[in-house]
Amino acid sequence: MDLQIVNDKKTGGYVGFEIFKRALDNGAKVLGLATGSTPISIYDELGASDLDFSQLTSVNLDEYVGLDANHPQSYHYFMQQHLFNQKPFAQSFVPDGSNLDAKSATSDYDQIIAAHPIDLQLLGLGQNGHIGFNEPGTDPESTTHKVALTESTIAANARFFDNVNDVPRYAYSMGIGSILKSKQILIAAYGEAKAAAVAAMIQGPITPDVPASYLQTHPNVTVILDEAAASQL
Ligand code: GLP
Repeated sequence: MDLQIVNDKKTGGYVGFEIFKRALDNGAKVLGLATGSTPISIYDELGASDLDFSQLTSVNLDEYVGLDANHPQSYHYFMQQHLFNQKPFAQSFVPDGSNLDAKSATSDYDQIIAAHPIDLQLLGLGQNGHIGFNEPGTDPESTTHKVALTESTIAANARFFDNVNDVPRYAYSMGIGSILKSKQILIAAYGEAKAAAVAAMIQGPITPDVPASYLQTHPNVTVILDEAAASQL
């Protein structure tokens, strides 16, 4: 893993932008995108840049089950606000949270990923080591699946909702196996609260208890951290 320690999230945004730019220069056509607060500084740089995504495809990691694309807390809406309004892609895919039939929602998404192999996948890191919504215990070979969110993830994401009871209990997530098939992976983490998960991801055993530890098995991973997130390394 290539570690990039930066002063702050804003600088991380710039470093992340450079990695996207290089991937595009090298012919990347499909970008795997993530939500959460971590990628925002990268999206800010991408949005303000002169990069052109109009011929590219984006494939997002995950979506809450039960929220449609127009719901302000849906990941689809998040992507619209933080990137797609500024930089439209030729086509953008996000799992369909309004499809309550998990079987069709997940198999449709697997077909989309198979048809659009991901050149560069951006990831955030959950405090419990999750990537996408692949919670501890997820099969490392998993494809898109319906996930019951853990109490810690529900609590961590409650800040985006008026009330913790409004946080959806389920999500559709690309699997760990699907993420690992991406040609290149960029993961960022900032702040003290991520330090233990960062150390487990990079230095811990490769174990289902820490889904991000499977990134150790991938040949092309860049990790952007601030000092606080790197403090337990
Ligand atoms: C959610 C998302 C993840 C994200 C994580 C961390 O659970 N499903 O993709 O990485 O939150 O979020 P943040 O970047 O806000 O810390």
